Amino acid sequence: MSPFLIILCVFVHCINLTSACGDHPIKYVISKIHDGEYTLTQIEQNVITSSEHAYSIKLAEPIQKLCKGLLNITHQTRYLYISEGLEDIEPGVFAGQNFMDAFFITSNKLRKLTSGTFENLTELNEIDLSDNEISIIEPGAFKNLPNLRILNLSKNKLSMLIHHSIVNTPNLVAFYLNGNHFTKLEPHSLSFLSKNKPVDLNLSQNFLEDIHTKCFEELSIIRFNISMNNLRMIPSVIMKNKDMELLDLCFNKLRRLPEDTYTLKKLHTFNVLGNPLDCVTQSKLRELSFNLNINVKLNSFC
Ligand SMILES: *[C@@H]1O[C@H](CO)[C@@H](O)[C@H](O)[C@H]1NC(C)=O
Ligand SMILES: *[C@@H]1O[C@H](CO)[C@@H](O)[C@H](O)[C@H]1NC(C)=O
Ligand SMILES: *[C@@H]1O[C@H](CO)[C@@H](O)[C@H](O)[C@H]1NC(C)=O
Ligand SMILES: *[C@@H]1O[C@H](CO)[C@@H](O)[C@H](O)[C@H]1NC(C)=O
Ligand SMILES: *[C@@H]1O[C@H](CO)[C@@H](O)[C@H](O)[C@H]1NC(C)=O
Repeated sequence: MSPFLIILCVFVHCINLTSACGDHPIKYVISKIHDGEYTLTQIEQNVITSSEHAYSIKLAEPIQKLCKGLLNITHQTRYLYISEGLEDIEPGVFAGQNFMDAFFITSNKLRKLTSGTFENLTELNEIDLSDNEISIIEPGAFKNLPNLRILNLSKNKLSMLIHHSIVNTPNLVAFYLNGNHFTKLEPHSLSFLSKNKPVDLNLSQNFLEDIHTKCFEELSIIRFNISMNNLRMIPSVIMKNKDMELLDLCFNKLRRLPEDTYTLKKLHTFNVLGNPLDCVTQSKLRELSFNLNINVKLNSFC
């Protein structure tokens, strides 16, 4: 190939890459519910807009980057769905957009969430970013989300949460971090969770060896799933949550449990299978399961 052709190819390639962020039409589907009727409309436009009675917007083809200016949602719309192919979200793309309920940006290829990406989205209830490749959440990537209740970051590549990456989310009560790469939880790791409401926490399927007691000091946890980690110890402060309903501690390296575990009265689900529990612990657990009339499976014989 002549040098001229090579230069031309590189040039064309560049144009292709940048055009992902500008002037080419994008296919998406608007669903509407009006007068009991449900309709789907496929649209192809450079800027994604909504319309009256819109219920959700779903991208109908893979898109690499969500650029600022790509959305112009003026009519109230509940849900945004993007799955497949997304690698990058430019901060500001959601600013001023009239979304009411939830973002489902699942099964994409996001690696990093930049500061200011999810900021001032006052109506939003839920953000689901599960099944991406996120390993970095910059400070302030989630900020001022007064109504956010559910944040699903499961199945990503996170091994730490930078301090202040999630700030001012006073109603965040369900945090799913299962299927990531955490080995430890530092004192500030959960500081953004709601302090005055019961919290549902899923840390299952990480590589946790060490969780700092301070993480849990101000929280009231009612559903706690930390199954499939490498923990030898559970901080006793967790078991001081008298309203605890669900505890999944399966497949860790626990030999015994904090004494307060046996005083929990509201448990309806309690799993401890796959831990090398000692005999004293097992007999206390048998008594607890009898008293609460729940089924606690134990795996070794004493
Ligand atoms: C967004 O759409 C509205 C109409 O719904 C229009 O008036 C406005 O100019 C658009 N804004 C941009 C930045 O395109
Ligand atoms: C979010 O709101 C705060 C306070 O109103 C404001 O200072 C900030 O500029 C806003 N940020 C964005 C990205 O809109
Ligand atoms: C979180 O994401 C996972 C993986 O996509 C999904 O299975 C799960 O239902 C989600 N959890 C909630 C509470 O939305
Ligand atoms: C995480 O654990 C909760 C129980 O706390 C469970 O309901 C949920 O399905 C699990 N997985 C995800 C992805 O939410
Ligand atoms: C705990 O989380 C894992 C992974 O999400 C899930 O498979 C399991 O069912 C959850 N346990 C309970 C009791 O919900």
